Amino acid sequence: MTSILKSLLSPAHQVLNMNWRNGFTIPTSDLYPFQWNWDSGFIALGHYYEKPSYAIQELSSLFSGQWKNGLLPHIIFHSENEKTYFPNFDFWNSQVNPGAPNKPKSSGITQPAVHGFILEYLLNQNPQDQQLVAFAKSIFPKIVHYHRFLYQYRDPLKEGLFFIYHPWESGRDNSPLWDESLNRIVVAEGDLPPYQRRDTNIANPEERPTKEQYDRYVYLLLLGQKYQYDGREIAQESPFLVQDDMMNAILIKSNQSLINIGKKLDLDTGEIEEWNQQSIASFNTKFWNDQLGLYTSFDLRGGRQIAEKEIGGLIPLFAQIPSQDQAGRIHDYLHNLQINGYYLCPSFDVDSPSFDSCRYWRGPVWPHMNWMIYHGLKHYGFLDTAAQIKADTFEIVDKFGFYEYYEPLKSKANSLVKGYGGDNFSWTASSVIDLIHNP
Ligand code: GLC
Repeated sequence: MTSILKSLLSPAHQVLNMNWRNGFTIPTSDLYPFQWNWDSGFIALGHYYEKPSYAIQELSSLFSGQWKNGLLPHIIFHSENEKTYFPNFDFWNSQVNPGAPNKPKSSGITQPAVHGFILEYLLNQNPQDQQLVAFAKSIFPKIVHYHRFLYQYRDPLKEGLFFIYHPWESGRDNSPLWDESLNRIVVAEGDLPPYQRRDTNIANPEERPTKEQYDRYVYLLLLGQKYQYDGREIAQESPFLVQDDMMNAILIKSNQSLINIGKKLDLDTGEIEEWNQQSIASFNTKFWNDQLGLYTSFDLRGGRQIAEKEIGGLIPLFAQIPSQDQAGRIHDYLHNLQINGYYLCPSFDVDSPSFDSCRYWRGPVWPHMNWMIYHGLKHYGFLDTAAQIKADTFEIVDKFGFYEYYEPLKSKANSLVKGYGGDNFSWTASSVIDLIHNP
């Protein structure tokens, strides 16, 4: 291990320990004081090296917020006394759905279904860990139930591809991908109840969504609430209705992991295999864009692909969906960025007018995204670029600290002293820990 890696490892564990809250880990203090769904998956990876029981507790706490219909919420509000976040549990009012647990309180939408692949990854680290094996058996049906929710409530055309109706579900909240759909929402004075944002008091407003964007987020939240967060009417009415490439790729990856785990632990996987066959076939026909040489998301309301070069279009590599030729095209995209002076991997097309190198999801680099792309590149044999994305991740974290996201343009980054968004960020620490251990 080189000295830069050694010097990153112990502060990374410190970040995770600092953010541990007696059973789960917050992404960062101040900005995100609760448990976030897909963050927790990545966080479990980092904990497992030093404190395997924390990894198990992390996932258990998350699933303690699962709804009867299977939905795994994007935020679990373990504390009802913490009032510094908007929208808090009272604004979500998830109890409009009778299957939402009363405790812990939760939001009413979801996030990327990473838990299946995280569980397999942990099991592969240490197949002899009996506590983990027992845990895997107990959580397996809950993850399946969650996937079933996505197919049952979010796939009206029965294509094997599910939709989201809120950008926050995508995990890439402020991506330009959502602009056109969000612009369909016209919020007039008095349409929304009064609300007070908290994020812009804590983080630099230039790195956060604008007021118009935020109003539309609130509008979509209230639309979900009107239909108990699972009603069929959501798909009929929502101006924002997108089949996201990254979320569907992650679901496919997690399905495959559940199939692998089920085979080893003698658990039934018939239903999951059926889902996955259909999902993979539909994914390739509906999301591949040959002109871009990347996958794209699909705007169900507008009836067309969202033809942009965006980081979600690279994640199918991780899910092993593309053919070797398609993977080669995706690799070309990354290679061009690399030779043009960017850290891998900017979250949006650097040549687009919507690119914004410091506003979240409109350009910056995210270490947990790099973690997935790294594994995808390795699978397809692009070892040099895999090594590059790993080296870039170490370099930015070493230079700027454990931030939420980072400046992608090297010439601009040279004049900066820190990253963007929240500091001491858990999944950044976790991704670094795991990349250090991964040869
Ligand atoms: C932001 C990100 C989302 C993440 C959350 C907590 O909202 O867009 O992906 O889960 O922060 O880190």
